[in-house]
Amino acid sequence: TRDKMPPLKGDILVHAEASKEGQPIRISDLSDQLVRAWPMGKGENGENVIRKGDPNNILALYRFPQGQIVAPTNLEATIGGETVAYSDVCTHAGCSVADSDQGDGMKCPCHSGQYDPKRGCVVIGGPPPRPLAQLPIKLEGDNLVVTGFFLAMPYPYTSEAEWESFK
Ligand code: FES
Repeated sequence: TRDKMPPLKGDILVHAEASKEGQPIRISDLSDQLVRAWPMGKGENGENVIRKGDPNNILALYRFPQGQIVAPTNLEATIGGETVAYSDVCTHAGCSVADSDQGDGMKCPCHSGQYDPKRGCVVIGGPPPRPLAQLPIKLEGDNLVVTGFFLAMPYPYTSEAEWESFK
């Protein structure tokens, strides 16, 4: 069903935090602290569908000062080189990744996997086998809009073939 589909082109990003769930995210809501989001698309009858039926659809958003986001982040897929979206699901075993309380990127609460959200969420510590997948986004009016599939294989896919066949 549509609430289980991964983020799709044209989806709008909405807050995942319980107190604001479903409210469209604004650039001004974002900072260097992680904000979790769901993709929201359209259902069969044009109604809004928050794609939270699959917990692996949870996303992590950041807005860093200009110049701080560098390769291998795909800058074309960010908003102005400042605002970036990733899968928030650890590629090791699927836990939701949080900000590190040491201020050094993101840390997974399950087995201490670490990622650098300014550098394409590359793995900088622990057991994750690959980066968190970047999701391409753009600004349309005030909304953050998905422009295509994840740029790399997200959890829980384990082979490129499996991920390619979904796409
Ligand atoms: Fe994240 Fe194991 S699930 S490090």
